[in-house]
Amino acid sequence: MEATEQSEHMSSRRSFLLKGAAAGAATIGAGRLLADAPLAEASGGLTPGDAAILRFLAALETLETDLWQQYNELGGIQDGEVPGGSGNPAYTDALSVLDSDMAQYIHDNTDDEFTHFTFLNAYLKTHGMAQANLEKFRTLPSSTATGAQQIGRLTNLMQLTVDTSWWTRYRSDSKNPDFGDTLPQAIPDLATGQHPGIPRSNADLSPPDHLQAIANTAGFHFAFIEQGGTSLYPSLAQRVTSTEVLRILLSIGPTETMHFQTWQDKAGNAPPLTDPSTGLTFPDLNADGELLQTNLIMPEPTIFLDRKFPIVSIIRPTETDGAAMGALKALTANGLFIGQSAEFFSVMTNLAQAADAARHGT
Ligand SMILES: [Fe+2]
Ligand SMILES: [Fe+2]
Repeated sequence: MEATEQSEHMSSRRSFLLKGAAAGAATIGAGRLLADAPLAEASGGLTPGDAAILRFLAALETLETDLWQQYNELGGIQDGEVPGGSGNPAYTDALSVLDSDMAQYIHDNTDDEFTHFTFLNAYLKTHGMAQANLEKFRTLPSSTATGAQQIGRLTNLMQLTVDTSWWTRYRSDSKNPDFGDTLPQAIPDLATGQHPGIPRSNADLSPPDHLQAIANTAGFHFAFIEQGGTSLYPSLAQRVTSTEVLRILLSIGPTETMHFQTWQDKAGNAPPLTDPSTGLTFPDLNADGELLQTNLIMPEPTIFLDRKFPIVSIIRPTETDGAAMGALKALTANGLFIGQSAEFFSVMTNLAQAADAARHGT
């Protein structure tokens, strides 16, 4: 997609979404009364298990929105759809090395996340169930680099440890984390230590390879975040009760996959380099054979369910047991919550455990 197309299409996108959501909400309300009358008496039409799954997803989507907003303020497009911040030209330029449309994609991913948590909470509210609300935890500092708003944040993008094993996981034809397999890192340096995904201050805007290393880190972080959603939705969908809640998970989840697929393609364009300030190295992924080759972005078929079956091209992992806590632990290990309070972790753990306790029919 060319950047020149953006202005005429972008202005209508949010208003279209809002109209669609309003129409959808009316239909949903009517449908539930007819379809789930017995349940509606007890719990507003949702089983406690379904509500717990939706509430955990709404919380995670709220956190996702917060991190994407920080990326958008500095490296995306700030407009009426995704307001906030004023852009950082040097960081935006460094991101554009991965693709000239990076700013547009960051904007649209941010917009999508906003609608995910908003919809999930609206659906919970319509059914008389508690929503996810993390507002009190907006306590983490903003970047002081030019372009960022100075407001409290839910997430921390300045001390990231990025697991890049998704890169090899989707390129392996013989391993699957659901079988207990571990996959090697594409960028080993990112998987240890703490690395900023955004400039922490204007001091991070130079030298050029330092800023490019930050943009490269962001590029791999984008895909890390979205591959998580790609697995989480099908993992949790296996335990929902209502067919409409199943429809919600089956309709939102693949948008995470669309994001992931875009981001893994762009991450492959991150230039090999070593950050002169930190030593963080991005190796040449095309120097080492098929497990790292950058253009192999279609999921390689691999083992699924049982080795007796032929290999198949699938999302991986999709194990449902402990999926919510697994997602929370992965985001915690990513460094996103460094600086958050004990109460934050307690609230998130409770939401995840409630989602993991949900079973089909409960
Ligand atoms: Fe999302
Ligand atoms: Fe996402």
